[in-house]
Amino acid sequence: MTQKVALIGFGGVAQGFIQILRERGEELPEHIQVVSITDWRRGAVHDPNGLDLDFIAKIIETDGTFEHYPERSGVIKGWNSFETIQQTNADTIVEVTFTDVLTGQPAIDHCKEALRLGKHVVTTNKGPIAVAYQELKELADANGVQLLYEGTVMSGTPALRLPEHTLIGNNIQEVKGILNGTTNYILTEMERGKTFEQALQDAQTLGYAEADPTSDVEGYDVLYKVVILANVMMGIPLKPSDVERVGISHLTPRDIKDAHSAGERWKLIGRVKKEGERTMATVRPERLPLTDPLANINGAINAITYECDISGPITLIGAGAGVKETGFALLIDLLHVNRLGE
Ligand code: HSE
Repeated sequence: MTQKVALIGFGGVAQGFIQILRERGEELPEHIQVVSITDWRRGAVHDPNGLDLDFIAKIIETDGTFEHYPERSGVIKGWNSFETIQQTNADTIVEVTFTDVLTGQPAIDHCKEALRLGKHVVTTNKGPIAVAYQELKELADANGVQLLYEGTVMSGTPALRLPEHTLIGNNIQEVKGILNGTTNYILTEMERGKTFEQALQDAQTLGYAEADPTSDVEGYDVLYKVVILANVMMGIPLKPSDVERVGISHLTPRDIKDAHSAGERWKLIGRVKKEGERTMATVRPERLPLTDPLANINGAINAITYECDISGPITLIGAGAGVKETGFALLIDLLHVNRLGE
């Protein structure tokens, strides 16, 4: 079976995904064929019989545009995002545009158009799932297609799929985690003696931080991930404004040292907790005892603990950012599209 895929957006995540397909495409249980790529900077290219990924990789390396893709019968260039969604022969739209997390646009409109036309949608953009999940899910259900978004929380580490598939039967009353690599890297490096500014600069150089790192250090990135966890994993319709948020920028080397002397560590924790009828959702630095598994997560790694009433707490540790890691999230979602539809 071949799944035809159109990429809307061709930044790092989409490029990481192409790299994975080139390396592993032959070994996958399903043939994933990329038929369209549309990007505001590089242009657009479409071939209903599948694009030549080696050629696309060469274009990436040379920073060229899709204008240089070879002309041949069937190849179309220059569509905009909506034209691609409307005219591509892809079954699945991969929405990975540069999207504003506050408004979720342009990703929300791309997702809506694709779902309305009966195409599956896979995205790693947090905005659409944090601010329009219910509407998009209803649209997907009404059109008999899938909406998948594993990469929105902890990149390719299956933070959303794990409870859905393997913790069934538990009543999960609380989920808490280190959901931002940049801030965890900064806190780790400050404990090792770097200043906040030095550590942030290094996190930017290493590519962990968002384009505007305010989103990381002030906790907005985690806030959106908390909303997604509440909405899709715990079935709690939370809005971004329902989450109490404090970032890490006020923490001083003295605070870090004091915690260390007391056998504790500061961690930026995102938390959703059900308390009877009420839901508590917070993002804030917490001083954790070293006996807490989350206290021992260092560097840009993420971790999440599910408080399960039958099986007890279960902690998942893994990458939370990175182009290949997030590209991998696209792959696992794509491989689930047809399995979930059965
Ligand atoms: N800037 C984010 C982080 C990337 O540092 O975790 C993944 O959302």
